[in-house]
Amino acid sequence: MKTRAPRLLLAVLACLPLTAMAQKYENLALTPPMGWNSWNTFAGDIHESVIRQTADAMVANGMRDAGYTYIVIDDTWSQRQRDAQGNLVPDPEKFPLGMKALADYVHERGFKLGLYSCAGPRTCADYPGSWGHEFQDARLFASWGIDYLKYDWCNHGTADARDAYTRIRDALRAAGRPVVLSICEWGQNKPWEWAGAVGHLWRTTGDIYDSYDGRKGWEMGWKRILDLQATLVENVGADGLNKFAGPGRWNDPDMLEVGNPGLSLAESRAHFSFWCLLAAPLMAGNDVRTMTPEIRAILTDRDVIAVNQDPLGKQGFRALAEPAKNLEIWVKELSGGDWAVCALNTGTAPADLTIAWDRLWTIRGPHTVRDLWTKKPAGDTAKPATFRVDSHDVVLLRLTPVKS
Ligand code: GLA
Repeated sequence: MKTRAPRLLLAVLACLPLTAMAQKYENLALTPPMGWNSWNTFAGDIHESVIRQTADAMVANGMRDAGYTYIVIDDTWSQRQRDAQGNLVPDPEKFPLGMKALADYVHERGFKLGLYSCAGPRTCADYPGSWGHEFQDARLFASWGIDYLKYDWCNHGTADARDAYTRIRDALRAAGRPVVLSICEWGQNKPWEWAGAVGHLWRTTGDIYDSYDGRKGWEMGWKRILDLQATLVENVGADGLNKFAGPGRWNDPDMLEVGNPGLSLAESRAHFSFWCLLAAPLMAGNDVRTMTPEIRAILTDRDVIAVNQDPLGKQGFRALAEPAKNLEIWVKELSGGDWAVCALNTGTAPADLTIAWDRLWTIRGPHTVRDLWTKKPAGDTAKPATFRVDSHDVVLLRLTPVKS
């Protein structure tokens, strides 16, 4: 009896570091993570000089100050085999100075560094994965100063997704460095139902490529992926996946293709608008060293990014689809009673899109309207509004309640 109180105290004290670590871990992505990832443009053709130049470009072009924080090196960064101690080794041709030096470089410029690994024994591009080495790899990543881990799902065999991702989460926590965990099992095991307790973001769908609505085997254009966000979950009407997202837990419809050659400027603008509306992670996937001023303006637009980063953390959803009119309207609730409304022209010619506010039943009461891309006031919600919109382009609006 006498010894119970001190024992209890000791037990509580022993748990404290773990709890503090768990909290640190859980609060890492209270708004959707923003950054850049090497895969969409460079795939296996990466080099540390590209990463350094990308970091420098993101300082000079305003991306860092607009909120892009994580610079993530995707698959193919390591040697083909582990070393004699079982450690992953960066490819000396691609990363001659090693990952610690690269992490120092990006940290000095105000960024965080991300790496890629895989739950299976081999990655999707056939490099060593973390299967059976989770704790060892997490410690190595921590020693290099890695802040973000994209964890893929190739070659997983009979592994259970939830178990495999929980193991790497526990390994990252045990290694003691706060790391954002990006779960990349492509929506195959309904991650929206469990991944919020494991990582910070989870892929919902297969891989994106730079197309509006094309399909190339496993890869899809952004409009197909957008449609899936509304229809993946059965029997939820217009709600789709949005109800599973919130601060610290984000559906990930994959990295951005904004600025890549397969998209027109309008399609890049619409893609960015929708990823902001979906509260999606904003991981630029273009060559930011050489992008045009128009693409830079899209990626760094503060008003549009504010829709994505809104602290309420609500994911938008499709409120209306009228295929006969080539019209889709998506809405996202924002803090302070504001709403974002995004109308897409799905047709192949410019069109007049009419928004009948009373049909967007979730938005109640009178609001003033501002066009976020043109920066112009666009009246109020007292009567329907019509906007001329190019093919595959959007009008993106912010509604603010009229003060009575
Ligand atoms: C998978 C992922 C992609 C990319 C590649 C790398 O396909 O979904 O995002 O990481 O692997 O091999």
